[in-house]
Amino acid sequence: MAAGRCYELVPREVPRVETRYRRIVTPFPVPESIPLLQDLRAYEPQSMEGQPPVIWDRADGCQVYDPYGNMWLDFSSGVLVTNAGHGRKEIAEAVIEQANRRLLTHYCFPGGPRRGLAKRLVELAPDRLDKAFILTTGSEAVECAIKLSRAHGLAVGGPEKLVIVSFTGAFHGRTLASQLAGGIPALKDWIGPLDPTFVQVPYPDGFRCEDTSFELFERTLAQKGIAPERVCGVLTETFQGGNATFLPVEYMQRLRAWCDEHDVVLTCDEIQAAFGRTGTMWGFEHYGIVPDLMTLGKGISSSLPISAVVGTEALLNQFPPGSMTSTHTGNPICSAAACANIDLILREHLIDHARDVGQVLQAELTAIKDRFTDVIGAVGGRGMVAAAQCIVPGTKDPDADLAWDVVRRCVESGLLFFSPVGFGGGTIKICPPLCTEQAAIQDGCQVLGSSFEAVLAGRAKA
Ligand SMILES: Cc1ncc(COP(=O)(O)O)c(C=O)c1O
Repeated sequence: MAAGRCYELVPREVPRVETRYRRIVTPFPVPESIPLLQDLRAYEPQSMEGQPPVIWDRADGCQVYDPYGNMWLDFSSGVLVTNAGHGRKEIAEAVIEQANRRLLTHYCFPGGPRRGLAKRLVELAPDRLDKAFILTTGSEAVECAIKLSRAHGLAVGGPEKLVIVSFTGAFHGRTLASQLAGGIPALKDWIGPLDPTFVQVPYPDGFRCEDTSFELFERTLAQKGIAPERVCGVLTETFQGGNATFLPVEYMQRLRAWCDEHDVVLTCDEIQAAFGRTGTMWGFEHYGIVPDLMTLGKGISSSLPISAVVGTEALLNQFPPGSMTSTHTGNPICSAAACANIDLILREHLIDHARDVGQVLQAELTAIKDRFTDVIGAVGGRGMVAAAQCIVPGTKDPDADLAWDVVRRCVESGLLFFSPVGFGGGTIKICPPLCTEQAAIQDGCQVLGSSFEAVLAGRAKA
């Protein structure tokens, strides 16, 4: 996220908007919302202040409503959570039904909803991945994947086989090991001396890292003095969240072969990519490979906090009974929500929809890049995830101010984004719920384009 920035709580007059998908009928932030926003600022840490001050009162499909008459077309999906759409009745009913049974938790004791979800995940996963361990947050799932990789390394290579390799620019969560595995230096400054068993190699995005060959991976490890025998795991987001770019297919296939050759666990962090986001059930399908582990979260439930690690039996069974558990594993209400969500995604063919409408989204975004080619350095994405990287003209330096101002302008026009992300906070991320119809995608992209135009015109005048 754009670290260190927050919105002033001073209402500004903004143009009124009334269209099929968007309605803005108040100044922004809404004057009546200021006490609520001030209370949040008073009682929560300032780290929570980074998002546009939209008060979420109700959300439905691809739209978010505040209590003051405003309605946004949502290009955030929360933060890539609501794959099936916001506030889906089927998910809410599954939650209510489970709650009405008055079984709100059951620790690791056996239970039906947990069984349902574990079975569902394993059945949907590729053949080799036949165990699912259910957790609560994405970061927790990443921690678990790191732990399983380390345990495997220790077992097959002894205490020297401990290194986790991940990628520059990566985001894997905000708990300690997941943050060490992340590749955004600003997120790790506070940690102090970094653990040398977490190593990052360049992410071959083709824009900031022009060398997209797999040789760069091997060369970087050699330069860092890391022999392959010392590596226990490679962890990568299936597409890099900060810029929505995929690794080259050949690179990923060679990485898979390299991991096999050196007995290294390959984990795809699918916390953003899974459950149809990229137009396939699992994002790694685009590479024609199967990882040893995948981490899941966000779109697994389109709602309540639940995550999972799905992987091979050999890896998931490394810890004996009672020694790899979690208090809230497979919470019955969260599991019921996840099962209802997965049913919806499949029943409504939302994956095909994401693939087809996603093509329109990607084409619209490319057209926006062509219009503002000086200040948009790269666009990327697939299916219903995309990103525009704002740059200072003539360089590849991120223009965080431009990204921030464009997002602000969009939000004030009824198009909801979360704050800019990615390298230097210069990336505008586009991730509508998968159920969003084509006309809404086109409407949102028109707002995005005209917001670039208005912000750049304002700059030219200043
Ligand atoms: C790729 C990826 N991995 C891990 C995480 C961490 O998930 P959580 O915020 O649920 O802990 C995120 C969250 O944004 C993510 O995008």
